[in-house]
Amino acid sequence: MNDQSLTERSTRLWGGRFRGGPAEALARLSVSVQFDWRLAPYDLAASRAHARVLSRAGLLTADELGRMLAALDDLEAACASGEFRPSVEDEDVHTALERGLLERLGALGGKLRAGRSRNDQVATDLRLYLRDRARGIATRLVELADALVEQAQRHVDTPAPGMTHLQHAQPVSFGHWLLAHVQALLRDLDRLRDWDARAAVSPLGAGALAGSSLPLDPVQVAQELGFASAAPNSIDAVSDRDFVAEFLFVAALAGVHLSRLGEEIVLWTTPEFGWVDLDDAFATGSSIMPQKKNPDIAELARGKTGRLIGGLTGVLVMLKGLPLAYDRDMQEDKEPAFDAVDTLELVLPAVCGLISTMTVRVDRLAAAAPLGYTLATEVADWLVRRGVPFREAHEITGQLVAMCAARDCALDAVSDEDLANVSPLLTPEVREVLSVPGALAARRTPGSTGPGPVGDQLAVAEDRLDFWREWAAQRVVPR
Ligand code: ARG
Repeated sequence: MNDQSLTERSTRLWGGRFRGGPAEALARLSVSVQFDWRLAPYDLAASRAHARVLSRAGLLTADELGRMLAALDDLEAACASGEFRPSVEDEDVHTALERGLLERLGALGGKLRAGRSRNDQVATDLRLYLRDRARGIATRLVELADALVEQAQRHVDTPAPGMTHLQHAQPVSFGHWLLAHVQALLRDLDRLRDWDARAAVSPLGAGALAGSSLPLDPVQVAQELGFASAAPNSIDAVSDRDFVAEFLFVAALAGVHLSRLGEEIVLWTTPEFGWVDLDDAFATGSSIMPQKKNPDIAELARGKTGRLIGGLTGVLVMLKGLPLAYDRDMQEDKEPAFDAVDTLELVLPAVCGLISTMTVRVDRLAAAAPLGYTLATEVADWLVRRGVPFREAHEITGQLVAMCAARDCALDAVSDEDLANVSPLLTPEVREVLSVPGALAARRTPGSTGPGPVGDQLAVAEDRLDFWREWAAQRVVPR
């Protein structure tokens, strides 16, 4: 077969044993290039590593290797500029790129497929892609955490009514509240790194499923592609999509965190709360109600979490019960993975902008902090410090709360006589603990909401974020 007939033939990678071309309905179902094209740079990186290993194995001469690498570079530039595009005939990214190589090299382009299958290729490409994008997402997570930390710094001493069951519970520092969201993001970053360590295994060299009879060097290839090791089992190498499912879990949980933050922003911006004002640039209006200022970013952060969870669920169900090794079902792993990356890259900067530009209404928060008898625990603890068993202290304080609730007054608005009527243990000195700043200042244990421990927490969080900034800036995938 001469070069001409090779390039003129259909771009399919599997024509030999077939008499005719695929039916239209099959081709339409089978094609994935419309979404897997974004793997092209990673496929090309893997191709360069594979070309080098073929040459070391004596299967490409030095001259052929030189021409192969030059053609791959040229193809990469043509892909980047848009000059080379996948065609309707190309089944997937691997098919399209082989066509590009054949167009540049003729028959020599057909040598690159030796010892390699789309099965190990696609698993390699997707690992490279996700490891790369994980760092982009980490950068966005750090930026959002930075924005929360900055707001928290301003509001270490801003009291807020801490809640459980969405009911006023105990006064907390608003900075402490914001830092609780930072803790969740720090765990998301941790999970990305843990995931990355497990994803850093190279499938290339597994071939279709059994490895290769050619003297390839999967360990060397793994190293060239920035992986920590080569897959120890060729069947597992092409069957395993744990790295996709796990990535989607990390993304979905980050989405859940964003949705919880989003829900709080939605609440805080209502007139009922009125704790936060959004910057005009990060809020939207209504087409009919001129007065409206809506927290759409927070709502979209909340809403888009549905697709992240859906993507994870879809991939887990797709994998469930699949026999080893590769099955075409696995082509369905890519769209959810890409969508998760796109969703987080879209949502995180918007939420970051919303947080960093919002105005916290300290007056409203401070006024709300003692409402709903949030200082009742201070009274019970005051009794405990005087030797009263907590069980009894709880009862006595509960009776005081009931009396105040019946009169619709604050805990400190009753007379000394009223206090004594509830219990002789409630002497006038109890008024010392009936202050919000006092309640906050009294919380000195590590991790609690007093200004001391919140300051410590801030320092540690800033330190950790420096670490994550550096981690996210690493380039692991050679390009
Ligand atoms: N487009 C395929 C996928 O994403 C590539 C692997 C195809 N392998 C095969 N034997 N048909 O999974």
